Amino acid sequence: MDTSDKTITCRAAIAWAANSTLSIEEVQVEPPKAGEVRIKLASTGICGTDDHAIKGLLSAIFPFIPGHEGAGIVESIGKGVTSVKPGDKVLTLIIPQCRECSSCLHPKGNFCEKQDVLPSSGLMLDGTSRFTCKGKKIYHSFRTSTFTEYTVVPEIAVAKIDDAAPMDKVSLISCEVPTGYGAAVHSAKVTHGSTCVVFGLGGIGSAIVMGCKASGASRIIGVDINEEKFPRARALGVTDCLNPQKFKKPVQQVVMEMTGVGADFAFEAIGLSDTMLAAWDSCHRSYGVCLIVGVAPLNSKLSLDAPMIVSGRTMKGVCLGDYKTRDCIHHLVTDYLQNKINIDPLVTHQLPFDQLHKAFELYHAGKTIRCILLF
Ligand code: APR
Ligand code: ZN
Repeated sequence: MDTSDKTITCRAAIAWAANSTLSIEEVQVEPPKAGEVRIKLASTGICGTDDHAIKGLLSAIFPFIPGHEGAGIVESIGKGVTSVKPGDKVLTLIIPQCRECSSCLHPKGNFCEKQDVLPSSGLMLDGTSRFTCKGKKIYHSFRTSTFTEYTVVPEIAVAKIDDAAPMDKVSLISCEVPTGYGAAVHSAKVTHGSTCVVFGLGGIGSAIVMGCKASGASRIIGVDINEEKFPRARALGVTDCLNPQKFKKPVQQVVMEMTGVGADFAFEAIGLSDTMLAAWDSCHRSYGVCLIVGVAPLNSKLSLDAPMIVSGRTMKGVCLGDYKTRDCIHHLVTDYLQNKINIDPLVTHQLPFDQLHKAFELYHAGKTIRCILLF
């Protein structure tokens, strides 16, 4: 049956209020408007950012459908859409690429301005809605929303990928892989023989470790308060695991003592200002580079020791590995298909969508690197 131009009724998970349990509901999904694409999701990852949004730590507009790390097939397109067509395999993009704004036009920029950014937050959930549930308007998350069988996303936030892509796994290449692996390989350009420290060994941190290892780092120090993360982290390339709660002194001091001079590269993949400072203080004071990958809670602040800045260290924020999303992210899918990168170790769990609550239990218990929900 041709569903284009028609409203589709399907299942979706809704966050009705901050910190409430997600509920799987029947929703109506509007047809795509001009410049929009309706996607039938095949899989979605559960990312730390989704959890932050559900808890109300980001500027979410409730009620909303969470999820942004999605892979699916184009069901229909709105007027004027040219880059994808029905039947194409695609990824949803948490950062669009409009190719017109100041970020998109600059050779280095990737944080596209066409995402209705609220002044209070770098990353946000906008006021668009193509969903209704029981007559109520349901908002999107990051203008994507992937905890749903169907979603409507702007064309500028959709990347066409290789027809051979395995749809039960490549959702990770929508966010986790470019965010983590890309931060190390593309943004930091981790150097051969370098020492790296990675704060947070969850989904993003694990992908950062993979990138550091692939770049030839000789020492990778992993920091996490959950020691259950350590065996998998070691398998991915972490050489030294630190649990900050096991030390009387701050973990940055431990890193300084272990390395003698500080790390060449430090990555923060937790999303807390304290661990951002610890990452900064773990870097070599002259040439160390600190990359902030985690998304901090709304209105939180960082307070740096001002006299210590002049020595030369760099702090840099990075979103999706600094990749221009529509231009670059599909190449990571091709690299995976050509065995140039292996994302399989990052997929620790796959569950059907209706076991969403079990997936969140596993996530909150710290058992997953990534759990993928399958539709
Ligand atoms: N110190 C050290 N490790 C911590 C701390 C802390 N204070 N608090 C949490 N952690 C660890 C957790 O045990 C977990 O292993 O950080 C890890 C976070 O991983 P996930 O929850 O899997 O989240 P992830 O998807 O990796 O996202 C991490 O990146 O994209 C952003 O918004 C996202 O800020 C989030 C961060
Ligand atoms: Zn743009």
